[in-house]
Amino acid sequence: KTNTPFTIVIFGASGDLTVRKLMPALYHNFQKNRLPAGLRIVGFARRDWRDEDFREELKKGVQAHGASFEDAIWNELAPSIHYFRGDLDAAKDYRALQAHLDCLAPGATGCLYYLAVAPDFIGPVCAHLKAAGMAAETHGFRRVIIEKPFGRDLTSARALNREVHEAFAEHQVFRIDHYLGKETAQNIIFLRFANTFFEPVWNRRYVSNVQITVAEQVDVGRRGGYYDKAGVLRDMFQNHLMQLLALVSMEPPASLDADAIRNEKVKVLGTVRPISMADTVRGQYEGYRSAKDVAPDSQTPTYAAVKLFIDNWRWQGIPFYLRSGKAMIAKSSAIVVEFQPPPDVIFNLHGNQGFTPNFLSICIQPDEGIQLRFETKVPDTVAESRSVNMSHSYHEAFPGIVLPDAYERLLLDALKGDAALFARNDDIENAWHLMDPIIQGWDASSRVSPLEIYPRGSWGPKAADALLAKGGHAWRMGCCGLPCN
Ligand code: BG6
Repeated sequence: KTNTPFTIVIFGASGDLTVRKLMPALYHNFQKNRLPAGLRIVGFARRDWRDEDFREELKKGVQAHGASFEDAIWNELAPSIHYFRGDLDAAKDYRALQAHLDCLAPGATGCLYYLAVAPDFIGPVCAHLKAAGMAAETHGFRRVIIEKPFGRDLTSARALNREVHEAFAEHQVFRIDHYLGKETAQNIIFLRFANTFFEPVWNRRYVSNVQITVAEQVDVGRRGGYYDKAGVLRDMFQNHLMQLLALVSMEPPASLDADAIRNEKVKVLGTVRPISMADTVRGQYEGYRSAKDVAPDSQTPTYAAVKLFIDNWRWQGIPFYLRSGKAMIAKSSAIVVEFQPPPDVIFNLHGNQGFTPNFLSICIQPDEGIQLRFETKVPDTVAESRSVNMSHSYHEAFPGIVLPDAYERLLLDALKGDAALFARNDDIENAWHLMDPIIQGWDASSRVSPLEIYPRGSWGPKAADALLAKGGHAWRMGCCGLPCN
């Protein structure tokens, strides 16, 4: 906590993100006494609001979406919240905003701009900020937080990075991937590098395959207009799944320094072998085409599974299976590291349910924890084995602690200038480099891994089971307490 007066300006402040995520996160940080004293929060949008109207909207947002609300805390925070009516397209409004900021917080030394705006506005807003002299770091830091999507393919992502870099240097740019702010995602590097017994077996000699699942129960809801043009690879894989893949597979960074971590992530994603179209599966849930703003003959996948390989010493030959979909049986995000079976089974397995290889499940959400599945002898039998779990649950280990929303940590880090949990431009480009050929392959031919319609409330297309079966594997679900398929 510092006493330097900082300002956060939220562009597009009248949108959903501000009330659902940003303000609850700022409120909780304030409640925990983590925000710098003298911080000003300024909303910029077109709506004809006064400070009081904006505060009222935000208060409702925190009450509805925050974990705990206290009137006294809110009343303390509210006077530092302000509203500025402006148009994202109007150069003069940025100059007026700067003048307003100078009055609100004279001598403020740092300014964080949150672009909660439609993707098409990111470049123009950055250009306006630069033109108004608001991007240069002559009097303290100037940082910009950008929300996904970062382009819709490699070419547009590069163009967007260029536009952003016209105004801001890379160290000023914070690209949010909220998966990196989740406690359990942050814990992946603790699990791997704060312990000694996982790392020696975290490689091709002991691991047989790695599975990353991000299953959602929700469907596209009212986001059909956006989603139908995006699809699951752009919406979930290019960002969240690629980041989880990097965390689980990267080499140990030399420190927690942002570039030390991001260099390792970039290195490992850069060694992923181009994904074979035969190793991709796409699906669409039943009824998707009748969702609002979705084309009646839409070919947009709401589910995908891919198998990929990392061409380095640690992972050569080991398949990584990634899947994500909407309208599935359960909300469950998990990473499963499956180990090699024993080289020789000396036990009499007669009467057994089968011999399950050991696997470690990192349960990202909703039942946050870590589970290790291993075999044990069934008491009072001669040689019967059964799989059992050794479990760590966040809620049992840290009773009473509410896991913070990802935005809480990410906003605080951006204020501090720590970009370790944010994606770098080369990170983003690497991910597009892997996704683009699949998206193009699917668009070009309906025969390449044909779109399979899967029932709502299922585990997705059957072809995704076949994808693993051809490698002699099966989806494991250590976290959700449901059968795998
Ligand atoms: C977003 C996607 O980035 O992540 C949504 O655009 C998806 O489609 C969401 O529902 C999932 O986030 P979480 O935190 O609920 O797993």
